[in-house]
Amino acid sequence: MENNAVTASPDPVSAGVVERAVPEPGPGPGVVAPPPVDPLRAVGPIDLRLCDSAADRAAIFGFRQTAWRGRSDYLFGNRRGRHPAEDEHDDDAFHFAAWLGSDVVAACRWCPSGPRGFEAEQLASLPPGALPARDTSLQISRLVVREDLRRTGVSEALLREGCRALLELTRYRGWFALAVPRLAAHYVSYGGVEVAGFEVELAARAGQRYRLVKGGMESSDVAITRSLEARPPGTIHQFTGRERPRVGAKL
Ligand SMILES: CC(C)(COP(=O)(O)OP(=O)(O)OC[C@H]1O[C@@H](n2cnc3c(N)ncnc32)[C@H](O)[C@@H]1OP(=O)(O)O)[C@@H](O)C(=O)NCCC(=O)NCCS
Repeated sequence: MENNAVTASPDPVSAGVVERAVPEPGPGPGVVAPPPVDPLRAVGPIDLRLCDSAADRAAIFGFRQTAWRGRSDYLFGNRRGRHPAEDEHDDDAFHFAAWLGSDVVAACRWCPSGPRGFEAEQLASLPPGALPARDTSLQISRLVVREDLRRTGVSEALLREGCRALLELTRYRGWFALAVPRLAAHYVSYGGVEVAGFEVELAARAGQRYRLVKGGMESSDVAITRSLEARPPGTIHQFTGRERPRVGAKL
């Protein structure tokens, strides 16, 4: 009989030195583990759309507020007459959101250059030529997904929907984002390219470091589609809700 016990050295658990580790629950030998539950299958169909109504925007701001509280408090503006999670860049932005029934579960905004430039230019001094063409590009920001739905493809699908809708409905063709390094890498996987050598520390953002990533809507549509199609079997990446956004008045 196989005996792995080493009698010469005392068992540290019985000697009271360490606590006995509780074995991880899991299938025993020969038992096939059930497939992991796909969070998207569990929650139901997700509807992606451009949100232009005051009610939709209020739902997005409320969702941001819940998602940011205690984690990204520096994003709260608390400006008079505005929702705490809203700022002036929201006025002209194209807002896209993922909905589960009447709940927003993911959102992002695509902002044009306003009278004071892009939000990124107000936050940081950017190297000359770093940004794509001002008249045909939008800054993506405030990308946020409900915690239980991260890593499911929702953010990718939302950004792809943004690319497709904006290509179809507007003159904009390019995008860029100011993002923390790990998220910048994520944007690169959406078909973006990092601006080489650029990294800035933003005091207004809890001293976090940010990089700049830029891309084209057409190439990002292709890259995201490829990435969604490469997801493991069993992962839902077909969003069964409305495929096209409603055309808003500002388009
Ligand atoms: C950003 C977000 C929408 C991406 O969702 P997703 O596509 O499902 O992907 P993940 O959540 O896995 O995030 C992708 C990567 O970015 C990293 N990341 C996301 N938000 C981050 C943040 N605020 N700071 C640092 N890293 C972050 C994740 O850790 C992950 O890195 P990894 O792949 O090396 O583990 C989601 O993480 C989120 O809602 N985060 C909170 C809001 C936020 O931070 N928005 C961006 C502000 S710049």
